[in-house]
Amino acid sequence: MKIAIIIGSTRPGRKGEAVARWVHDIAAKRGDAQYEIVDIADFALPHMDEPFPPMMGRYSRPHSHVWAEKIASYDGFVFVTPEYNHAPGGALKNAIDYLFAEWNHKAAAFVGYGASGGVRAVEHLRLILANCAVATVRPQVELSLFHDFAEMTHFTPGAHQEPAVGAMLDELALWSDALKPIREAKAAV
Ligand SMILES: Cc1cc2nc3c(=O)[nH]c(=O)nc-3n(C[C@H](O)[C@H](O)[C@H](O)COP(=O)(O)O)c2cc1C
Repeated sequence: MKIAIIIGSTRPGRKGEAVARWVHDIAAKRGDAQYEIVDIADFALPHMDEPFPPMMGRYSRPHSHVWAEKIASYDGFVFVTPEYNHAPGGALKNAIDYLFAEWNHKAAAFVGYGASGGVRAVEHLRLILANCAVATVRPQVELSLFHDFAEMTHFTPGAHQEPAVGAMLDELALWSDALKPIREAKAAV
């Protein structure tokens, strides 16, 4: 089983990278899946420029094919998301919008960060991903800019956060695996 830890921020100086690396360090000790960091910045996706809606599966741009191949290779996802204006950032929304089938019948979990633990961004993502036929697990990690980042800058997660990541990944691994028969049945049609 392969699970991607997706960095949901592309901003220079972003906090998302340190958060994703921390999640990956915790996940890598588990042994229930292969966990990899996926940085959407590496895919240089322009603002959505496909002529057809992704659910038609008619990708035409080279960057869409590269991104689609990457996401298709995973069984589940951890979205590491900042909160920009009470929502996920535009770069992450754009990256989700590019694809459809590659997200379908997979599971997702969330690590949010912000003044209120990124909870509003995560709620938005749950709605967005429902339309991509992604099953989102209940446990989520909420990192506070005030308590988990020294001087609101350096990532210093509280001791309670590591077990929270573990509880979230327990559920994500179960759901990613449980949905596998659906993915296989759909692929066989
Ligand atoms: C455009 C923008 C809007 C923001 N809006 C919010 C917000 O609504 N709620 C919040 O908690 N933090 C907000 N923040 C603060 C971010 O949570 C904080 O800057 C965080 O470090 C951004 O993540 P990043 O460093 O990985 O890009 C905002 C930051 C930016 C850049």
